[in-house]
Amino acid sequence: MKLDWNNIERPILALSPMADMTDSAYCQIVRNVVNGSIPQSRLIVFREMVSSEAVVRGNEKTLGMTEIHPAERPLVQQIFGSNPDVMARAASFIQENYSPEGIDINMGCPVYKITHNFNGSALMKDPDLAVSIVKAMKKTITVPLSVKMRAGWSDHNECIEFAKIIEDAGADLITVHGRTKKQGYSGLSNREVVAKVKQSVSIPVLYNGDVFTWQDYFEALEQTKCDGVLIARGGLGNPWIFKQIEQKLAGQIPDEVSLEERIKVTIEHLDQHLAQYGQDRLPTFRKHISWYLKGLSGFKPYKQIIMTAKDRDTVVKTLEQFLHDQPLTSKA
Ligand SMILES: Cc1cc2nc3c(=O)[nH]c(=O)nc-3n(C[C@H](O)[C@H](O)[C@H](O)COP(=O)(O)O)c2cc1C
Repeated sequence: MKLDWNNIERPILALSPMADMTDSAYCQIVRNVVNGSIPQSRLIVFREMVSSEAVVRGNEKTLGMTEIHPAERPLVQQIFGSNPDVMARAASFIQENYSPEGIDINMGCPVYKITHNFNGSALMKDPDLAVSIVKAMKKTITVPLSVKMRAGWSDHNECIEFAKIIEDAGADLITVHGRTKKQGYSGLSNREVVAKVKQSVSIPVLYNGDVFTWQDYFEALEQTKCDGVLIARGGLGNPWIFKQIEQKLAGQIPDEVSLEERIKVTIEHLDQHLAQYGQDRLPTFRKHISWYLKGLSGFKPYKQIIMTAKDRDTVVKTLEQFLHDQPLTSKA
């Protein structure tokens, strides 16, 4: 199957790509949480970026990152790079071997490790190169090709012209995170400029930036009039945000998340993570635990045990103990 961005149900709801976060384990957990109450989910997941150079070199770790469990679909695989030929070969290889429903190009990443080689948001400074990449990739793949960008490199209005150039090059969808590269994560995501992008192109546009609650999702849609929203940090330790949005769209009252549910899903995610990476990879799951249990009152002493635990069972027992020790009123 491939995504038909022009005709899929509006408003679009998607999990934004996050390196080291939106891996197969996490995408499956998000799906499980949503499917529990929304059988006909509209959610689309964007997998973390992979290096086109590494894909073409056949790097085992990178190829492992592009494997897809059927439960994650529909799924868009994001790729980064700056060489049109390599990007096209990587996209074609991924399509042929893993069949994602769409492929996305990273033209928004601001970190030096990526931009110093003219990857990520640096492509916004070189529209000719960005166009060559889109055109080369479009020639080799049949699934839709999308581009994720920032508002600009240093000026918030850069994305308006850049989006038109990317549309003309043949992209099927654009996502705009309303901050510039220079801003990093400071300030707020500029919704006005993303609304202008939506008015300037005919292909679908997704808004991205600072959506942390289901209410924010609807506010962002209202303010930008975009076709949908991509959510990143708002989904960390909070797969329920996607379920709550879908519940609201289905005319239901979004569920509150109980502590019991929070602990249950944290453990499910832990097990999924260890199944994907190996039983000794507890340390790489710690970041997720911090997100799931952030701000919970009285959690600090339990967190200390969990963060230094050497095995899965200690983590699980400590989480269960924390739940057990709560007054009845705070579990519901
Ligand atoms: C840990 C982390 C990793 C990220 N990795 C990627 C990535 O691989 N590709 C990408 O396009 N954006 C990446 N981003 C950016 C997000 O997808 C998103 O554009 C940005 O966080 C703004 O959205 P938000 O306010 O919903 O978090 C990452 C963000 C975070 C926090």
